[in-house]
Amino acid sequence: MTKKTVNDIDVAGKRVLVRVDFNVPLDPDTGAILDDSRIRASIPTIRLLLDRGAALIVCSHLGRPNGRREDSLSLAPVARHLSQLIDHPVRMHDQTIAFEAVNVGRSIWRWIKNLRPGDILFLENLRFDPHEEANDPKYARALADLADIFVNDAFGAAHRAHASTEGVTHYLPSVAGLLMDKEIRYLSIASNNPTRPLTALLGGAKISDKIAIAQKMMDTLDVLLVGGGMCRTFLLARERKKRGTLYGEALEFASSIMDKGEQRRVPVVLPVDVVVGDKFSADAAPKTVPTNQIPPRSHILDIGPETVALFKDYIKRARTVFWNGPMGVYEFPAFSYGTRQMAQALADSEATTVVGGGSTADAVAAFGLAGKMDHVSTGGGASLEFLGGSVLPGVAALMDA
Ligand code: 3PG
Repeated sequence: MTKKTVNDIDVAGKRVLVRVDFNVPLDPDTGAILDDSRIRASIPTIRLLLDRGAALIVCSHLGRPNGRREDSLSLAPVARHLSQLIDHPVRMHDQTIAFEAVNVGRSIWRWIKNLRPGDILFLENLRFDPHEEANDPKYARALADLADIFVNDAFGAAHRAHASTEGVTHYLPSVAGLLMDKEIRYLSIASNNPTRPLTALLGGAKISDKIAIAQKMMDTLDVLLVGGGMCRTFLLARERKKRGTLYGEALEFASSIMDKGEQRRVPVVLPVDVVVGDKFSADAAPKTVPTNQIPPRSHILDIGPETVALFKDYIKRARTVFWNGPMGVYEFPAFSYGTRQMAQALADSEATTVVGGGSTADAVAAFGLAGKMDHVSTGGGASLEFLGGSVLPGVAALMDA
């Protein structure tokens, strides 16, 4: 899937509508931005457009205000933060872009008409208007009317067919921003002739999130390492398979992955030891046990030290590593060791390292190791859907290269 990018178009003297995903976590008490990596990730696109003489109209959503104005979800602090990061003035248009208002040429148009190359106008939270999520063609048209070109850099929102991600592309030449392009290239690595061995490290609590990814990747992988709470299903499936008593979708799925591994001679490596707790809580007492002695009512909260060593050995030999899903509940300090060690192993590795978004990206950032990876996806749901093989509407709608 190759899409045209900002590098394929002439933007000098043009007004460019740039959709970013600045849906960043905010402190519920102070409103402070807790993690600005999504903002930083789109700066290369913004700078490139400014350097090439475009005037920018930047837009995003923030949270889920359900079509109503909610002051706590205003993008004003985000616009200020962007301005500081790029050391460039950013003007905020603080009214919702109600399409009726745009069409009658009030308010926003006074601002748009005065935009000069190098100016940045930041629109208020698009989701304050219900027509955004409804992908209302009139609203999409009103957004498109503001500009000459549309650049989509919002990979994190590309799985949503909204007016600012999909609708607008019907009315403007539409290309990918640099972040969007990088996300597509790195997340397609498994399907795009990777340098081998290609090793995937999958974790997370819920196996249901990983079914599509694991199924898709099993055709190209050389090694699959399985950690996180979901390893329990794989361990159980391996046991039950021997006894011929496999029941339930999750167990059958885990078993089918292991069968595929056997057919393709791809090792599916499960933990040999885990750290369990008697309750799902930060103050649960950690206990390391071999995987054939997991107490029945315990919670698997981390992988154990022998598993860490085993997985590290595979990662050392890999030339491409893809990681999605923490190894345990890394937010609880007593159970963060396995996830931290895997993050460090990827950081130390000379392989191409790709980290799927969501909680894995959060973990890598929490350990201060995001900068050591070749790519950390900014997409949560979007990266899961992309890796599972879905066509994302926000990507599909862009012009083909
Ligand atoms: C995300 O954070 O995953 C994206 O910004 C999409 O947000 P949404 O799930 O509210 O559409």
